[in-house]
Amino acid sequence: MNSLVPSFIENLAPYIPGKPIEETEREYGVKNIAKLASNENPLGPSPKALEAMAQALGKMNLYPDASAFYLRNELAAFLDVRPEELVLGNGSNELIELLIRTFVHGDDEVLLSEHTFPIYKISAQAVGRRFVEVPMKDRHYDLEAMADAVNARTRMVFIANPDNPTGTYQTEEAVVRFLERLPERTLVVLDEAYYEYVVAPDYPNSLALRKRFPNLIVLRTFSKAYGLAGLRVGYGIARPEIVEYVNRTRAPFNVSTIAQIAARAALQDQEHVRRTVELNRKGLALLGKELPALGLSFTPSQANFYLVDFHRPIGPLFEALLREGVIVRPMTANGFPTSARINTGTEEENEKLLGALRRVLAA
Ligand SMILES: Cc1ncc(COP(=O)(O)O)c(C=O)c1O
Repeated sequence: MNSLVPSFIENLAPYIPGKPIEETEREYGVKNIAKLASNENPLGPSPKALEAMAQALGKMNLYPDASAFYLRNELAAFLDVRPEELVLGNGSNELIELLIRTFVHGDDEVLLSEHTFPIYKISAQAVGRRFVEVPMKDRHYDLEAMADAVNARTRMVFIANPDNPTGTYQTEEAVVRFLERLPERTLVVLDEAYYEYVVAPDYPNSLALRKRFPNLIVLRTFSKAYGLAGLRVGYGIARPEIVEYVNRTRAPFNVSTIAQIAARAALQDQEHVRRTVELNRKGLALLGKELPALGLSFTPSQANFYLVDFHRPIGPLFEALLREGVIVRPMTANGFPTSARINTGTEEENEKLLGALRRVLAA
């Protein structure tokens, strides 16, 4: 039978969204669910962003500014780059898709790590582009093996740093060694969605590396530490030629007016980011102490979550935690069938998680 779609779409597994919190509360008869499944900011958006959005509502009859003029200029000043080196996306997720659509064609390949953020693979497959996956080494990207896998068709490489879902990171030295081995025609996307959370002193200064490696593209987002995941706004930093090509393929109004306004206000509220990062460090420290006491192991993380290994199939534990009012993210589909990714929450949510784990694991 002829399919309506080509085989690469036929074989694409649809994204399975989690149920809305309200629906889960109703179904499981629980209240005040702690959602620790999507690496969101437990403090919410910056109050300054909330205020700016409220003031802008009356202008929603107008289309957004297609060039995101103010946001781009303010972000450029904040990052100390030129506005023409910045491209805004409907979340960094959209930029991943646009980069693949714009630069990867024909026999070109996208080089990926196994077990990493699945959107790279999905975005390539959705438009029929080839990708190659290299195994991880002890839950880290194996950059040496990835460099060995580069060939004349390798057009683009994605590196999540820190990685989701492992939380592990690559040092500046490792990234530089990798970049030195790549031909200039291969574009390297450093996805720094969790950049603001990183404390490791040997984490790369990717913006500075761009001077030496013009094939570098850095992605960041307002979804995580800035607490604006629901608005969908992310950005890429790359040389102007790359930005200009992406601007040709993106929809002009890809970032909504509300998103632009909120992102500008959030950027000015670095105190909110600081509070967020501090809360995360406390949460990671608490969980890092308590999880091993429960017989669980976790991977050291530079992000706002841990990949937690329960050493038994995660499905029944996920269900049991739901009944306790705690949502975690099973990692079976990412190749970790005994693990869940759990992000840090507020202090109350972290305690709720630990209480729930104690009861569920004792049952
Ligand atoms: C590594 C990584 N990159 C990109 C994203 C996409 O973020 P957004 O599209 O919300 O900017 C995420 C979100 O989970 C992520 O974990």
